[in-house]
Amino acid sequence: MDSLIGLVNKLQRACTLLGDYGEDNRKLPTLWDALPTIVVLGGQSSGKSSVLESIVGRDFLPRGSGIVTRRPLVLQLYKTNPGSEDYAQFLHTGDKKYTDFSLVRKEIQDETDKVTGRTKQISPLPINLSIYSQNVVNLTLVDLPGLTRVAVEGQPEGVVQEIENTVRSYVEKPNTIILAVTPANQDLATSDAVKIAREVDPAGERTFGVLTKVDLMDKGTNALDVLEGRSYRLQHPWVGIVNRSQADINRNVDMITARRREREFFATNPEYAHLASRMGSEYLATVLSKHLESVITARIPGIMSMIIRTADELEVELAQLGRPVAVDAGAQLYTIMELCRACDRVFKEHLEGGRPGGEQ
Ligand code: GDP
Ligand code: NA
Ligand code: MG
Repeated sequence: MDSLIGLVNKLQRACTLLGDYGEDNRKLPTLWDALPTIVVLGGQSSGKSSVLESIVGRDFLPRGSGIVTRRPLVLQLYKTNPGSEDYAQFLHTGDKKYTDFSLVRKEIQDETDKVTGRTKQISPLPINLSIYSQNVVNLTLVDLPGLTRVAVEGQPEGVVQEIENTVRSYVEKPNTIILAVTPANQDLATSDAVKIAREVDPAGERTFGVLTKVDLMDKGTNALDVLEGRSYRLQHPWVGIVNRSQADINRNVDMITARRREREFFATNPEYAHLASRMGSEYLATVLSKHLESVITARIPGIMSMIIRTADELEVELAQLGRPVAVDAGAQLYTIMELCRACDRVFKEHLEGGRPGGEQ
């Protein structure tokens, strides 16, 4: 049986195919709104992409200064059996398997440019990427364009507001789990991530604070006020992170080394040693996977009613189209409808207590 996260991932891909991805001109909530996801929220260069790469344990995201992430990237992680080779697949390239992750980065760049042009525009249309690896935990994460306050040269007017609108369309959903990424070398009071998270989740129930760049703090200062919840209290404790610096990236420091150095940083630093067991990217990934699973379990009834509604709507649409023939749009709708019905059956089994969530 699919894990619950795997089921939700399938439904999410179906939503992308149906054009259902959180535009705000809709009147009724859609299936997309019902699906819990984890979204990375933060200012430009706060370390969002680095956190994601570290959770995945691979280099595969476009990097650089300025607005690099210009379309949402829906990243679905699947844990595979030991011994199998890591690979990635995009929704828009079908069955093609990528084992060279530098080609994944290139494809993200090309696919971004295809929709936004080579200008620095942004688009709310997500790119859907699945990664299969023995080093990941089952998880769905969305990388979003970084918040910014000023457009840089070459960017169209209004890009600042556009980014904020796209970001808000994700974080406003009550089913979204927010990773509020904030660099430790910046004042928490000026953090865009914290500002928006506080607005959309005032009780701090669905926000995880992620404090990056703990290694870059000024001598004589430390992050304990944040990490111990005194600066901004959230229901889930803050997690401190040490990603690779730009110099590390330039020197090709690999991910395994980076994870080890991160563990050592927290374990050997006298100020943080008492917190070390709940710091770092690996800890973050584990906590998030467990949390996502429990949120999905709690939301199964809501998801099921949206699946049924979507399948019913598709059936009406199909009836109007006539019987689907081999490879037309109708055939795709038909496949998605079947998928909805199948997911509905599996969720039912989960609900009836046959199996606990999360089994493969
Ligand atoms: P994004 O724009 O939020 O996606 O940020 P990136 O992940 O691209 O990181 C921006 C820059 O900050 C890169 O040069 C990273 O190497 C650097 N960086 C990110 N996190 C850390 C960290 O924890 N420590 C250090 N020293 N540098 C970091
Ligand atoms: Na960046
Ligand atoms: Mg980025």
